[in-house]
Amino acid sequence: GIVPVILAGGTGTRLWPVSRKSYPKQFWPLISSRTMLQETASRAQGELFAAPIVVANDEHRFIVAEQLRGSGHTGARILLEPVGRNSAPAIAAAAFLVAEGDPDQVMWIMAADASIADAAALGQALGIAAAAAREGHIVTFGMRPSVAETGYGYIEQGEALAGHHGAFRIARFVEKPDAATAATLIADGRHYWNSGMFVATARTMLSEMERLAPEVARSVRAAFDTRRPDLDFIRLDAEAFRGSPEISIDYAIAEKTDRAVVVPASLGWSDVGSWSAIWEIAEKDAAGNAALGDAVIEDSTGCYVRSDGAVTAVLGLENTVVVTTPDAVLVAHRDKAQNVKRVVDALKRLK
Ligand code: GDD
Ligand code: MG
Repeated sequence: GIVPVILAGGTGTRLWPVSRKSYPKQFWPLISSRTMLQETASRAQGELFAAPIVVANDEHRFIVAEQLRGSGHTGARILLEPVGRNSAPAIAAAAFLVAEGDPDQVMWIMAADASIADAAALGQALGIAAAAAREGHIVTFGMRPSVAETGYGYIEQGEALAGHHGAFRIARFVEKPDAATAATLIADGRHYWNSGMFVATARTMLSEMERLAPEVARSVRAAFDTRRPDLDFIRLDAEAFRGSPEISIDYAIAEKTDRAVVVPASLGWSDVGSWSAIWEIAEKDAAGNAALGDAVIEDSTGCYVRSDGAVTAVLGLENTVVVTTPDAVLVAHRDKAQNVKRVVDALKRLK
């Protein structure tokens, strides 16, 4: 079956104060009663799939193991990084693990913290992607863009991929363009957002990694070769892994490879990247308010109020995000929720 590879090593800064370094976004319930990791693992469960590989930071190993067990996911292999080196080394490590069993097995690489509403559309797109991956392509999913978002990768659709209805070659992949470039890219109707999911065989991923990011491949191979199994965990060698460049798969591979393919799809996808994105997908009342936990909203419109503990009441506000945790409170305009990282940076300077 297809091997789900779940990347769970990010920090989720924009979801402060819920998401913290010690307990980041992917381990919180944000859009349902299950955590993002549990939602993601469930999406990759069924007869089509082998047991997943979760790649995470060593610091979070017990959270990962407990959350998988708690939602009935057995047999997962948990690959542990001593430090985060971004997604390219994490994916390389997973590819080495898969290749040890069968290099031609297809990997479905995904973020631990995205939301996909349309399971049927996902299944269909994944079928197309897996078939193209078996022929040596690295397949992405194209999301129809709505705004000139600068935090995403942009995919220019090229010619149809012969023999694979619904798949296209990628003419160009642009990771995180500036605002002006993003605006021109969405205007021409030929560009999609990258969903952050990739489908490829371990063999293809590793050969492209060796060709296009040789230092990542070399360091991670060394870290994998001297790994230490420990209970359910596979610990990568710290010293070797630290030697890898810190780079995302998008810059290391997606922008450079000539084997890239896109499957455009309407998945009801959200990267759940900010409080405004969570407000978008949350269940709201007639005035567009969402109150979660110990929260009440009166005489307000378009507000998102979430409290883990302290009773939080909002009166007469518009388009405001209020998030309360036992030791921190965020109050932000919904349109500025993308910039919460600025608050976190300012807090770091305070300390
Ligand atoms: N294991 C591990 N180790 N996982 C990591 C690491 C790491 O060092 N760094 C990031 N990740 C995980 C994150 O937890 C997330 O699940 C995924 O990799 C993507 O990382 P992000 O940091 O969220 O990437 P991004 O949002 O800047 O950009 C990516 O996603 C966009 C869509 O949400 C790119 O693929 C873009 O092209 C894409 O549009
Ligand atoms: Mg992201």
